Amino acid sequence: MQRPYIVGNWKMNGSRAMLAEARAIDRAAARIAAVEVAIAPPFTLISALGEASTAIAVGAQDCHVAASGAHTGDISAPMLADAGASFVIVGHSERRADHGESDALVRAKAHAALEAGLGAIVCVGETLAEREAGRAEDVVAAQLGGSLPNGETFAALGERLPERLAVAYEPVWAIGTGKVATVADVTAMHAAIRAQLIAAYGEPGSELRILYGGSVNAGNAAALLSAHEVGGALVGGASLTAESFLAIVSAAVRDNE
Ligand code: 13P
Repeated sequence: MQRPYIVGNWKMNGSRAMLAEARAIDRAAARIAAVEVAIAPPFTLISALGEASTAIAVGAQDCHVAASGAHTGDISAPMLADAGASFVIVGHSERRADHGESDALVRAKAHAALEAGLGAIVCVGETLAEREAGRAEDVVAAQLGGSLPNGETFAALGERLPERLAVAYEPVWAIGTGKVATVADVTAMHAAIRAQLIAAYGEPGSELRILYGGSVNAGNAAALLSAHEVGGALVGGASLTAESFLAIVSAAVRDNE
């Protein structure tokens, strides 16, 4: 059983002034060994945040599929590793929507991250229209089927798969809206994701963590994190201050005891 994994996604927020929040999170996380805590700041803060922290992992919110080359404005997975990142979020719904990222591209990015020695968090989630049409599980299953690492990259990971790969279920309608999926909906979706992971990966598929994301906050974290098959949380807005993020980390400790 892995520790709960609480990941802050700062999205396009943060300046050097926010390193103070990261330091406060890091100091607290150093005393909370029962929870794995991480922050994915914007690219501009990865190095500084890495240098400012000892207990938390630092990650990125995206990477290019290639290791280097003529791709103006893009950042590769080996460059992220060089900057001090240890994981990458790929396939976030905001990337899928704003940049037209397909499942195949998300898979290629996950492969690039894993091949660079980084962890990958693969995000999936349905829109409100898809949920209301009763298609949420089918949509998520199709996204997973097209986005999860496979082939040689998967084979090369072997037993390390559960430490290097996580899935985040983030219903699009719950992101930044204050609307949270019910514990029953999260439990049902996570069970479906787990079954698909085991079908795809066998035994390691039963161990990798499935995170929930979408308006997680101090008030709802304990209930969500204690739901079956919820291995952690991917937190947006509430990860921007040490106070609100650490309340979620603390809720994960309670759940774990
Ligand atoms: P919020 O926590 O702001 O809803 O964002 C969730 C998210 O998208 C994390 O990746």
